[in-house]
Amino acid sequence: MGKPNSLPPADHYSANYANFQTELYAQIRHEAFGEDIGQNSWLTSDEQDRFLAWLELSPGKTLLDVACRAGGPALRIAATTGCSVVGIDVHEQAVTTASSLAAQCGLAERAEFRSVDAAGPLPFSDASFDAITCIDAINHFSDRPAVIAEWARLLKVGGRLLFTDPITLTGPLTNADVAVRSSAGVYLFVPHGYDECVIAQCGLQLLVCEDVTANMAKVAEARRAARASRSAVLREIESDQAYDGQQEFLAVAARVAREGRLSRFVYVSKKLS
Ligand SMILES: C[S@@+](CC[C@H](N)C(=O)[O-])C[C@H]1O[C@@H](n2cnc3c(N)ncnc32)[C@H](O)[C@@H]1O
Repeated sequence: MGKPNSLPPADHYSANYANFQTELYAQIRHEAFGEDIGQNSWLTSDEQDRFLAWLELSPGKTLLDVACRAGGPALRIAATTGCSVVGIDVHEQAVTTASSLAAQCGLAERAEFRSVDAAGPLPFSDASFDAITCIDAINHFSDRPAVIAEWARLLKVGGRLLFTDPITLTGPLTNADVAVRSSAGVYLFVPHGYDECVIAQCGLQLLVCEDVTANMAKVAEARRAARASRSAVLREIESDQAYDGQQEFLAVAARVAREGRLSRFVYVSKKLS
């Protein structure tokens, strides 16, 4: 396993985390995603429902959600399928929030959250999980072969891995696009085809590769617009510089996705032996 990322990976997420649980930010998520499931990604609830059909989760099975943030998407999976979930994220405050949300939803017995740097070796035994998910976060780990090999180690035989890669290169990008789209911490841009190769190298069988860029383009634009309509209050909370930076990030994310230059794919694979 390669060394964990050397740059602090979660600074970008720390910057706006303090407000994540407030009613204002929940309203913005509601407008951007349709349903607020506590996500901080491009994941919508209908998309998660489609993903779940590929994971074959049910009571008695255990899911590991890598880079779970404040746990909302993982808790929704636990509630929907009856499975147990373990969520890990490097952001300690988010993990603390996830644990209290689990207790509030009455899911504490089936949902555990831990603060872990997921770019390095993970503190679980071989074959611990029936499924692993990582939504819009694999791009923060610099050594992809090592990370997917580690996930393969943790899966039971027949277990499923599902991850989305939201910054797959599918067209030309300027240095300005790249700079805005990777504004803090580690971002690994890979060409389309690379993820499939690594999945195969790690002994996993690819079951699904689907282009889910349209969701990212739609959510990025809806999130930008929802924030723009509350710009005065957001500028007060976040500062002009942070607000403008976030709006530029969302505008560029929407544009390069719409134009098919930076794409988001979902990959589902299965551990064969
Ligand atoms: C785009 S958010 C996605 C969060 C969540 N999967 C969701 O769908 O809402 C990326 C997450 O990756 C986490 N992250 C970044 N680098 C990490 C690392 N090295 N180890 C664990 N988590 C990391 C961040 O703290 C953040 O919560």
